[in-house]
Amino acid sequence: MAPVGLTESAVELAPGVHWVGAFDPHLRSFDIILKTANGTSYNAYVVRGEKGVAVIDTVKEGFADTFFQRLESVARYDEITTIVLNHLEPDHSGALPELLRRAPQARVYLSVRAQMMLKALLKPTGEKAPDYTPVTTDDTVDLGGRTLRFLHTPYLHWPDTQCTYLVEEAMLFSGDVFGCHFCDPRLFNDCVGDFRFSFEYYYAHIMRPFRENVLDAVALIEPLDLKLIAPAHGPVLRHAPRDYVHRYRELATPRLFNEARSEKTLVIFYLSAYGNTRRMAECIAQGAERIRGVRVSLYDLEGGESDIFTDLVEEADGLAFGSPTINADAVKPIWDLLSSLTTVNVKGKLGAAFGSYGWSGEAVRLIEDRLRGLKLRVPVEGLRIKLVPDEAELAQCCTLGESLARHLTGQLEHRELDMASLA
Ligand code: FEO
Repeated sequence: MAPVGLTESAVELAPGVHWVGAFDPHLRSFDIILKTANGTSYNAYVVRGEKGVAVIDTVKEGFADTFFQRLESVARYDEITTIVLNHLEPDHSGALPELLRRAPQARVYLSVRAQMMLKALLKPTGEKAPDYTPVTTDDTVDLGGRTLRFLHTPYLHWPDTQCTYLVEEAMLFSGDVFGCHFCDPRLFNDCVGDFRFSFEYYYAHIMRPFRENVLDAVALIEPLDLKLIAPAHGPVLRHAPRDYVHRYRELATPRLFNEARSEKTLVIFYLSAYGNTRRMAECIAQGAERIRGVRVSLYDLEGGESDIFTDLVEEADGLAFGSPTINADAVKPIWDLLSSLTTVNVKGKLGAAFGSYGWSGEAVRLIEDRLRGLKLRVPVEGLRIKLVPDEAELAQCCTLGESLARHLTGQLEHRELDMASLA
């Protein structure tokens, strides 16, 4: 197999099925936060049937010329009956407005959630939305001897995302799913350099927060006959494509093992300048341990590494964060850990904050605000203690731990009603 090269020729995946994407070898970061050490590719595809031609996704706007040259080498614009949009992020929809101008007769197929995005995307061009059909799992388009079947795979990684399966060729056009930022003009996974790191890195930063949706998508994909996976970035997976599906299942499956499913886990992270916040953390842990069915772990963040806790955070049911207040703020390792939570799904977990302080004590409220911003539940007011906790205050810490544990286990706290207060 000769290298594809950086020339503007389409690449045949099967008779009448071509890659018409673009390489971006010099990109060094994507969406600001992702490192792309060897660039990326924007993969788009053309499928020819007896009754029409489909274009599946486009490319980033700045690469439109290359895309159109490759497209023109395998199809005329007046042959295009179908445009499939698996995902409307601009790296895949950048050339769409121009494609619609060149092939105005084409009908667009996209997910239900993508409709509003399509209108927003075309707004700056001043053009009306094209004829389009919202589709979901098992909807099909007949191209004449070739059938496109859609799979509803939302949140991989946007609400609009879907996959498209070419039934007769057993090819899956998967959008960002199974993709990676890896630019290699040899294109196919059995020809390019070692891209395993890029594949795992991409999953960890793009797909990991949506692992329940990943498992739903994998369940749709696993029963398919699969000869090739054609993602929207990185190598086309023609060698052992099913291995990549298996890997997604592994990556999306809970990583910690030997956990009792009936147990709830509470993880307490803290930092302590003089031992006061540590004493609070220990007493919160003692209090929580009094409640059956809760497994409590205590971690000192001194040393500052947060990445090592990602798996732990992802699996935990409850997270408590203890920080002293220094210069009217929580301390940096706490913020580092909290900022790393954007790569995992923490929505709905129980959250809490506590800490000792000297003068103003803002850390606890700031942490609580951040937890709420990440959509954790914060049902119990955080605990601030001035300087050294005394016995009564340590008892308050135990009570806080008990209360968190009860919220985790669903045991409502028993409250004594003072009948006189109701009068
Ligand atoms: Fe490759 Fe989510 O765009």
